[in-house]
Amino acid sequence: MAAPLDIQFAPLSAPPGETLVVLAGEGLAFGPAARAIDERTKGALTKAARAAGFSGKAKTSIEIFAPTGVETQRIVIAGMGRVTNELERLQLGGYVFAQIVGRKVENASLIAEPADLGEAGPEAFAADLAFGAVLRSYTFKKYQTRKSENGQGDETRDALRTLSVHLSKPDAAAKAYTERKAIAEGVFLARDLVNEPANILGPVEFAERMRHLADAGLTVEVLDEAQLEALKMNALLAVGQGSARPSRVVVMQWNGAKSKRAKPVCFVGKGVCFDTGGISMKPAAGMEDMKGDMGGAACVAGLMLALAMRNAAVNAVGLIGLTENMPSGTAQRPGDIVTSMSGQTIEVLNTDAEGRLVLADVLWYAQDRFKPRLIVDLATLTGAIMVALGKEYAGLFANDDKLAKELDAAGQATGEKVWRMPLAKAYDKLIDSKTADMKNIGGRHGGAITAAQFLQRFIKDTPWAHLDVAGTAMDSTRNEINQSWASGWGVRLLDRLVVDNYERPDK
Ligand code: BES
Ligand code: MN
Ligand code: ZN
Repeated sequence: MAAPLDIQFAPLSAPPGETLVVLAGEGLAFGPAARAIDERTKGALTKAARAAGFSGKAKTSIEIFAPTGVETQRIVIAGMGRVTNELERLQLGGYVFAQIVGRKVENASLIAEPADLGEAGPEAFAADLAFGAVLRSYTFKKYQTRKSENGQGDETRDALRTLSVHLSKPDAAAKAYTERKAIAEGVFLARDLVNEPANILGPVEFAERMRHLADAGLTVEVLDEAQLEALKMNALLAVGQGSARPSRVVVMQWNGAKSKRAKPVCFVGKGVCFDTGGISMKPAAGMEDMKGDMGGAACVAGLMLALAMRNAAVNAVGLIGLTENMPSGTAQRPGDIVTSMSGQTIEVLNTDAEGRLVLADVLWYAQDRFKPRLIVDLATLTGAIMVALGKEYAGLFANDDKLAKELDAAGQATGEKVWRMPLAKAYDKLIDSKTADMKNIGGRHGGAITAAQFLQRFIKDTPWAHLDVAGTAMDSTRNEINQSWASGWGVRLLDRLVVDNYERPDK
């Protein structure tokens, strides 16, 4: 991972960095600190704003060079419009970061006390801005070794090392930031895993990286193929049998609740490190994107890291099924019938519908072993979910209205939005097989739904939600807080789900 942006919180009296950012609300509304700077510079801020026709609208900015009266090379006035909620604060932080980084300075300062804090207290406001800036700062450049034209290495985006966030109570903001930093670490881990090419990150390598999460306080177990065979995870193993690289299942546990015996919340991720489609092979165009077919597993890993790093008061378990779907002489064939861990038999009519085979066994194992209070699975499961929802919303399928509502609320708060899709008997019928208990494809229509129906056949009576993240985990729309191919989608969503609903003892 590239060295993450270093965030410092400093008092308003501290000297500014090479670039100083002040915020302006609508109607060029300055907070007291920005107004003091305007006075010290003999009105340079208001004059420049007037000259530029700048009024503090969101996503606009102006720049004042070599101001007199303040020890900095430039002042950037960043328009914030009206910022009322948390997501808008993150987005503003991302925007501010983009304004600074474009200017190629090593350290910068942000005056984080605007005229209008919206609904937030000053420390939460500053901490959210910092969080947004850090999320925006992520890049994946480890394989770019060529020097850029200025001979400084390919470091233009990374030039900014330190962002000092200035406010009256820097210590309170620093404290508020520690939890956000933990979540950022989780998002970065998820992004790194998804961005990594499949030659570097196969099932074994992915599992090895998970062992390091023990440093954060997680209990990490790696199940190898012999153990998976003993557990009878034949559906998962069938997916990996065409690959030269063995499959793995990783179990990560975090026991942060007061009662170590309280039922855990459970998260399950699809971790197909590369999906060629197997014998039912995918076309060449765009197949490279299938290095990201472990986006669900990456999210679970990032979430577990975030929960541990912020010392969440919850018992949680994350399980990921890691395999590689390859065509070869040992690969499974269309028409093969496998017996899943649950005992149910599956006719594999299309080897490219492999994610559901992996999840079938991991979902079963998760319930069997942990008796969780709920399960959320994440999977880059179907192209069909993108036909239905594009890349803005993930598909949400649930057997439990309460859990669905909680996820919807968490989605709106974090901007990682979900849209509920139907589950119904009539769809379930579409995966009945003539020769086995079920088949792994449902026909031309409603592909995301029949995939979800398939998963539901492996859910007992546990409250369960399935998130089809094929459109959001990778190559999703770039935004103020993510510029990377891998979005790390879902870490903030599920962290929020946990914070808002499963960390309080009375619930
Ligand atoms: N990993 C793919 C789904 C996918 C496609 C994710 C594009 C991200 C981007 C999944 O394993 C798959 O191949 N699904 C098939 C299912 C079909 C064979 C029933 C699909 O969506 O075409
Ligand atoms: Mn596939
Ligand atoms: Zn897949």
